[in-house]
Parts: sequence; structure tokens; C-alpha cells
Amino acid sequence: MKKDIFGKALLDYQNGNYSEDIITSTNISDDDVLPIPYLFRPYSEMPKLEQKALQLSKGQVLDVGCGSGSHSLWLQNKGLNVKAIDSSKGAIEVAKKRGVFSAELKPLLEETERFDTILLLMNGTGIFQELSLVSQNLKHLKSLLKPNGQILIDSSDISYMYEDEDGGQWLDLNQGYPGELNYYLSYKGEKEAAMKWLYLDFETLKTACLTVGLKCEKVMDGEHFDYLARLY
Ligand SMILES: C[S@@+](CC[C@H](N)C(=O)[O-])C[C@H]1O[C@@H](n2cnc3c(N)ncnc32)[C@H](O)[C@@H]1O
Repeated sequence: MKKDIFGKALLDYQNGNYSEDIITSTNISDDDVLPIPYLFRPYSEMPKLEQKALQLSKGQVLDVGCGSGSHSLWLQNKGLNVKAIDSSKGAIEVAKKRGVFSAELKPLLEETERFDTILLLMNGTGIFQELSLVSQNLKHLKSLLKPNGQILIDSSDISYMYEDEDGGQWLDLNQGYPGELNYYLSYKGEKEAAMKWLYLDFETLKTACLTVGLKCEKVMDGEHFDYLARLY
């Protein structure tokens, strides 16, 4: 059962109760700090590929997995019509408090309206959870597009995480696709139930897009094996 630790951390920050960060780890990596202020980043502190995604956004926009609503707020301030959705109750509360006009507690697969631009940012493929669920999610995203609509999504090729210091690979090929991770979150002494979180390299995303009739082009590479793709 999900405790919505992520949402609690966002709410604490929003309500002035920020005293520690979220700790993340995965089945292939040790503890890492996810600074909560990063989840409230202004445009100037966003990675270039997120800034690019915002610049390319047009028409009616859906921000999927909006978190605290940073991308939605920027677009809203530019005069675009934005709907933000997230499966975290705390995240939606915070997005509303920060001023996102249309923010709904809803998982992607339950969305039914149509949009000109759909944004999935900060490893947008994560919410697909695992490789076997990618086509279902892509088909659904495609069904939410208006004519000439576009999906802007970022992810990373994480093969580098399977390299040791001297460059040798310890990838176990029997283990399945290397971008499928188990993700663990903890915050203020509480642990979230394990989540599946998917990283997709560009070629795998492109192949999956072809099978559901979506075109997939790389918009730009990021600074660390990450990229922004445009699906249409
Ligand atoms: C890494 S955070 C990114 C938040 C925000 N986009 C940002 O860049 O700061 C991922 C977000 O996706 C949400 N999420 C996960 N699965 C989801 C789903 N199936 N539908 C909608 N939101 C989802 C999580 O609750 C979380 O807020």
C-alpha cells in the first residue's frame, strides 16, 4: 500500500516544514539524496531538455506526473491552457496551492480528454513502470492526442550504471531489460513500498513507438545519457 511519502515531502516543503531531503535507492544503486527544493525548481534551474520541452509546448497541455507543478506553472504564466495530473494526493494538493488552476488526482491511464501537447518530464518513461507495459501506455497517450498533437518525454540510457570503475560491464543478460529498476523512497524515517520505475534508451522507445503507430524523434541529448523525445 502506497503511503504517499513523495506527496508528504512536497507538502512539508510547501508548508514551510522542510528539514530533510528524500532518500532514494534502487536494486542496482545505493542511497542517493533527492533534494526537495529541486522538485520546486524555477525555469532557470531546469535542465536544458526540460526548458526545451516547455518552449515546444503549444495549445492545450497535459502535464502527466506533474509533482509540485513547476512545469505547469511556467506554461500557465505564458498563457497556455494546462491540466496537471498526478497519482499522488500530496502532489496535487501542492500543485493547487502553488496556483495550478487545473490539477487532478488521476493516474495517466484514467485520463480521457484530448490535448495538443502531453508532457512527461523528469524521466517521463518512469510511470510506464516496466517494459511490458510500454505499449499499453503509449497507445493510451496516442488516444489522448488532438490532430497534430505531440508528446514530449524524457528518459535516459542507464547502461552506464552497470559499469564498474575500470569500464567493465556487469550486466546480467538473464535479468531482463537493464532500464527496469526497483525504486525505494524514504523520508523522515518512513519507507515507501517498492515501486517499479522504467528508464528507456532512445532506440527502445523508438521501436515501441513504431509498434503503436507513433513517430518518435530525438529533440536533443541531455548532459548525462538523457534525452528529450517528441512523439507524434
Ligand atoms: C519524478 S516525479 C516528477 C515530478 C515532476 N514532473 C517534476 O519534474 O518535478 C514523478 C511523478 O509522477 C507521478 N506518477 C507516477 N506514476 C503516475 C501515473 N501512473 N500517473 C500519474 N502520475 C504518476 C508521481 O506521483 C510523481 O509526482
